[in-house]
Amino acid sequence: MTQLKRFLYGGDYNPDQWPEDTWSEDIKVFKKADLNSATINVFSWSLLESREGQYDFSKLDRIIQELSDANFDIVLATSTAAMPAWMFKKYPDVARVDYQGRRHVFGARHNFCPNSKNYQVLASKLVEKIAERYSNNPHIAVWHVNNEYGGNCYCENCQNAFRTWLKSKYQTLDNLNEAWNMNVWSHTIHDWDQIVVPNELGDAWGPEGSETIVAGLSIDYLRFQSDSLQNLFQMEKSIIKKYDPNTPVTTNFHGLPNKMVDYQKWAKDQDIISYDSYPTYDAPKYLPAFLYDLMRSLKHQPFMLMESAPSQVNWQPYSPLKRPGQMAATELQAVAHGADTVQFFQLKQAVGGSEKFHSAVIAHSQRTDTRVFHELEDLGKKLKKIGPTVLGSKTKARAAIVFDWDNFWSYEYVDGISQDFNYMESILDYYRQFYERNIPTDVISVDDDFSQYDLVVAPVLYMVKAGLSKKINIYVKNGGNFVTTYMSGMVNNSDNVYLGVYPGPLKDVMGIWVEESDAIVPGHKTTVSLNGKDYKAGLVCDLIHPENAKVLAKYSNEFYAGTAAVTENKYGQGKAWYVGTKLDHIGLTQLFNHIVLTANVESLVGDSHKLEVTKRVTQSGQELYFVLNMSNGERKLPQKFVEYQNILTGQQAHDQMKAWDVQILVK
Ligand code: GLA
Ligand code: ZN
Repeated sequence: MTQLKRFLYGGDYNPDQWPEDTWSEDIKVFKKADLNSATINVFSWSLLESREGQYDFSKLDRIIQELSDANFDIVLATSTAAMPAWMFKKYPDVARVDYQGRRHVFGARHNFCPNSKNYQVLASKLVEKIAERYSNNPHIAVWHVNNEYGGNCYCENCQNAFRTWLKSKYQTLDNLNEAWNMNVWSHTIHDWDQIVVPNELGDAWGPEGSETIVAGLSIDYLRFQSDSLQNLFQMEKSIIKKYDPNTPVTTNFHGLPNKMVDYQKWAKDQDIISYDSYPTYDAPKYLPAFLYDLMRSLKHQPFMLMESAPSQVNWQPYSPLKRPGQMAATELQAVAHGADTVQFFQLKQAVGGSEKFHSAVIAHSQRTDTRVFHELEDLGKKLKKIGPTVLGSKTKARAAIVFDWDNFWSYEYVDGISQDFNYMESILDYYRQFYERNIPTDVISVDDDFSQYDLVVAPVLYMVKAGLSKKINIYVKNGGNFVTTYMSGMVNNSDNVYLGVYPGPLKDVMGIWVEESDAIVPGHKTTVSLNGKDYKAGLVCDLIHPENAKVLAKYSNEFYAGTAAVTENKYGQGKAWYVGTKLDHIGLTQLFNHIVLTANVESLVGDSHKLEVTKRVTQSGQELYFVLNMSNGERKLPQKFVEYQNILTGQQAHDQMKAWDVQILVK
């Protein structure tokens, strides 16, 4: 396991935007807040290479020297995420072509074509220089490749590379035509060079990411683009490793999560996972919790919180101030779920450019007698105290939610029967069941080992890839508990429907078959009767024939009133539940009261106190309970913890938890 040498507290710092004589003063201020780390050189390509091949590292040398002298841990980025103007002029193919078919010009960032040889060569040369020059500096704690990879390109170079990718995947055109079921609408391909990118000029119906005509093609294109970007990451990483085999290399993941990049596939290439977290003001608190659990589960190891905002974020539609205490609580929420760093964007608030109103450690006022700075200082003290204890501690979960990028893509390409299919929404409906009960939960891929969990929930497992149904069957047979839902077991790897009955290869383990699915139209809700009470349901209603399964809940209206809505099947030593509709939160909570009891997955502390509670176990086996009040109201500490010690204060746990209060408790 890759572990950092110390708990990092820092973030993105752009000294090259500032006069050099301000740097030492900045560092003094950072130290005042106990910061010990800075991420630098994320977007400096144009300063490092002002003309092709003319490199100037003198400024970066001085920045690195200053930070090293201050004993800062440096997260050194490679600067390849924003290309200098000369590159666009000299090599127009470095720029991405968008979904609308437009070639981009100089201006933004994150806009390179992953299959441009020119981009690859120029980026490699730059990384080679940087790695060679700085690899011996012991203050470099982490290498930060590029920045927030994502976004697709639809250019000629990508089209050619896609054809090659397809050839190696399908070998023959017959295989390809079959996989994409191309006899529909005269799509049959007779030559590899007839394949074109699925953009708005071609296969699309709607905006990027929504319905297309041949979903199999579009899904393959996303797989290919994700692979193309991954190749770029590997390209940079292998250069760095040549010079510095030991320092961890990462790239910062982002989004809610980022749909375009299959992070589960990428995870094996990351020495340590890092994530940028920017929940909107109105995001439910279980959303960041879910994302942190996902990041931790990618390698089943602690991750870096690479970026977060000290207060406001400029780019969201509305960005209220973080309320007193809220910043620390949101940072510690990441730590509670497995982060071994707390890092911000940005350490110093820019004077110009798009992010000048994004909050920072040093704000425009450049004062330290401010509310936000005092809170940062306070958090710094706390992290200094708890960092060594927390670092490397692990989360142990007996429950898991399956999250799968192929399903993220394919489920949202589905044309019909409702336009409201939203993968994340369905996943979160179920994740929330664990969150509100304070049940530690991993967010796993279909390739993870299910047998380490007592309960595995796979909502909308629309695409069941080869081998997966067998794996589920064995898991349940051997005593596992498995839940799936409507719109599951429908298609294979290439998005072709499993003939026979729904839910295809899952029907045996579920002990049911589904004859039809009704779409619930806007404004209408249907109801489901569970344990003698009616609960609302929506989106779709599967018309289920139970075979071996017993019926737990029935529809209470429409022509299918009285038929099964939720079933439970005993299969081998285990149980499998099928939830045929989108139950509302109260209904799903009722159902999960039964499921978590049956599967015997334990809550850390019960659910009545409205606090978020997680547990990390240190390398020496000590249990750390994170108790977070993620709200603006007061909460009472659960009885279980009253005798515990709070390692943040060094005192006994306190009973009354104010808004945004956090305690880290040990026995
Ligand atoms: C992203 C980027 C940063 C910065 C922040 C602002 O996460 O990686 O460079 O733009 O957003 O929130
Ligand atoms: Zn391209």
